[in-house]
Amino acid sequence: MLSSSYICRNNSNPNLRDMIIGVPKEIKNNENRVALTPAGAKELVKRGHSVYVQHTAGEGSGFTDDQYTEAGAAILPTIEDVYAIAEMIMKVKEPIEPEYKLIKEDQLLFTYFHFASYEPLTKAMVASKSVCLAYETVEKADRSLPLLVPMSEVAGRMAIQKGANYLEKPLGGRGILLGGVPGTLPAKVIILGGGVVGTQAAWMAAGLGADVTIMDVSLPRMRYLADVMPANVKTMMSNEYNVREMIKDADLIVGAVLIPGAKAPHLITRDMLADMKKGAVLVDVAVDQGGCIETCKPTTHENPTYVIDEVVHYCVANMPGAVPYTSTLALTNATLPYAIQLADKGWKRAAQENAELVPGLNVIHGDIVYKAVAEAFDMDYVPVDKYLVD
Ligand SMILES: NC(=O)c1ccc[n+]([C@@H]2O[C@H](COP(=O)([O-])OP(=O)(O)OC[C@H]3O[C@@H](n4cnc5c(N)ncnc54)[C@H](O)[C@@H]3O)[C@@H](O)[C@H]2O)c1
Repeated sequence: MLSSSYICRNNSNPNLRDMIIGVPKEIKNNENRVALTPAGAKELVKRGHSVYVQHTAGEGSGFTDDQYTEAGAAILPTIEDVYAIAEMIMKVKEPIEPEYKLIKEDQLLFTYFHFASYEPLTKAMVASKSVCLAYETVEKADRSLPLLVPMSEVAGRMAIQKGANYLEKPLGGRGILLGGVPGTLPAKVIILGGGVVGTQAAWMAAGLGADVTIMDVSLPRMRYLADVMPANVKTMMSNEYNVREMIKDADLIVGAVLIPGAKAPHLITRDMLADMKKGAVLVDVAVDQGGCIETCKPTTHENPTYVIDEVVHYCVANMPGAVPYTSTLALTNATLPYAIQLADKGWKRAAQENAELVPGLNVIHGDIVYKAVAEAFDMDYVPVDKYLVD
């Protein structure tokens, strides 16, 4: 077994370490993204690291094994081989049950986790004694989440494509064209949460000619949106009274609320569905944090929708997975600079030297070091500082 302690294999700078990086093929339903492109592999190999990619891991995103080997990576036949050799695993989605047993003590996992929405995953990672650095909680000084942004951009834009589609009668919707045509009113689109997802959704809906309202709790955010959005986009304070009133008239509602690291609040409760139009569509993008619509439960691209009270629910938890080419490039553009720091320095020194990585640490050697995750399941919380002092 390879040691995960300081190894200097072929790097001439003694302050930098060489790391064995593993890129498994994603096994979640319809997940075609891959955590590293051949271009990314080349950057890591150039710096003296060893990159092992599972056979056909890049296929779904349009990258062949040959492209990875040309970039200097090695191809391994099975997922077991990749987990067995790697000090750092780079993934896209959280590990799922068959992967739990492959994760080794001390192994660094750099991927999306969304711990607060799934207790079994949290418990499995605690038990594995691995180090879990979650893309979604890496945070810049201005509180923005640089590794959520690219996927939020994709999901926000897709939410309107999907919503428009499911508003069509044969797919269960009320049969309204988002932009209408001259002489008819456009569809009413309500967007809950005016962050990255909400803003991208608003741009798309507005571009198609819909009547759009973004509801948020942040006045500064709404002031900004009011400045930059076209005239068919309005803003409104999000509170129970306003949400209850606004959804009565809505054709399409996009759930795009986020409270970082915590479960999303239920802004639309079960009883409110009765007040909505029959054939209206709910696209709850926030489903990966538990959803901001009470009746939302995660669905897959194979079976994306269900109907409650004649309201269509679309709640796919990995929306960007359906457009893997765009998503893989957008994601790896954002993750690679951090992956390079982690590989060069090891997770501890990388976090000591780059404060953006610190909130990304969620579980270390069996301790939950991210407060909101511990609170979500009433588990013990250990401040991350314990692991960052020399
Ligand atoms: N389903 C998918 O495939 C997918 C893909 C990408 C992102 N997401 C999820 O989409 C969600 C939104 O992500 P984001 O990047 O836009 O986050 P963000 O932080 O940019 O925006 C969240 C917004 O929600 C607002 N908000 C908080 N509480 C609110 C409330 N009570 N009412 C209205 N607004 C409120 C915040 O002020 C903020 O503007 C997250 O849960 C993210 O994980 C899902």
